Amino acid sequence: MKKVGILTGGGDCPGLNPVIRAVVRYAIQENYQVVGIKNGWKGLIENDTVELNLQSVSGILPKGGTILGTSRTNPYKKENDIEKAKENFKKIGLDALIAVGGEDTLGVANKLYKDGFNVVGAPKTIDNDLNCTDVTFGFDTAINIVTEAIDRLHTTAESHHRIMVVEVMGRHAGWIALESGLAGGADVILIPEVPVDIDEVCSIIKKRHKRGKSYRIIVVAEGAQFKKGTMVTQEEKLDAFGHVRLGGMGQRVGDEIEKRTGYETRVTVLGHIQRGGTPTAFDRVLGTRFGIKTMELVLKKDYGKMASLQGNKIIAVPLEAAVSELKTVDMELYNIAKIFFG
Ligand code: F6P
Repeated sequence: MKKVGILTGGGDCPGLNPVIRAVVRYAIQENYQVVGIKNGWKGLIENDTVELNLQSVSGILPKGGTILGTSRTNPYKKENDIEKAKENFKKIGLDALIAVGGEDTLGVANKLYKDGFNVVGAPKTIDNDLNCTDVTFGFDTAINIVTEAIDRLHTTAESHHRIMVVEVMGRHAGWIALESGLAGGADVILIPEVPVDIDEVCSIIKKRHKRGKSYRIIVVAEGAQFKKGTMVTQEEKLDAFGHVRLGGMGQRVGDEIEKRTGYETRVTVLGHIQRGGTPTAFDRVLGTRFGIKTMELVLKKDYGKMASLQGNKIIAVPLEAAVSELKTVDMELYNIAKIFFG
């Protein structure tokens, strides 16, 4: 019997389980044995696996997170680790491996493919910053969670005549801030792609106040930066992929606004709530389609590819192209959002 492996790496997100379920269901139908690699690349280094059968994926479609566990382990960080991962790939007897992740996990998948291993990928991340796909699964769930939070902040902001600053995730791309800010009717949206001019933000707030509106919602992406300033980080320590932990920009923006305008301001940091819980119907369907596509690529021996959504079609794109650069926000969409600032 042929063997296909599957792993989920990087930050978890809603929609991972639908991908796993789709791969298992399709693979079993095609007489493949499915090996779940636990905790991302860490599981391949440590040969930590679990057999996946119909029973293991029963009922997981609406479940958030990943039944396989995840980690931010980069096997290429230490020579020993990548050698162990390659040895285990052979020892387990994998005919192919499906890596489900964002730019870091898929970057490793691409390197492994270039080193001669049969690997394909599926694009996951709430940040929506992966190239060559219109959207990644997890993003829709995240923006719906943030939009609901903004709606809730509106009513309390209005009652107290306050400015509400809400900090959202997204790393170096402003997709979550932009789309949830648009959907939630934010007065200002601050994203990493546009340096923050705090004077302009305060003047928008004051203008709105003159119009008789005494409350405002400001959405701040965690990766936004002040003009000529530096990024706000929680700690300087880098993870295995060289990323700093972002966070704190919302508070900085809130403090500046209160200081400069005198209006009472409160800050909400949504944090990991954006990544938790059940996936939306859209993410369940997208995850399912990506899972089926990756298994289809395995059956066709079309390795080194990533499943991608383009328009309404799921196609295959080279992993190399998908991880070569970050997909930052569509400025046309930002310009639409700007019409509603203030
Ligand atoms: O990449 C997904 C993401 O949620 C980012 O938006 C965020 O910056 C980061 O992961 C947080 O990472 P961790 O879960 O390690 O705190």
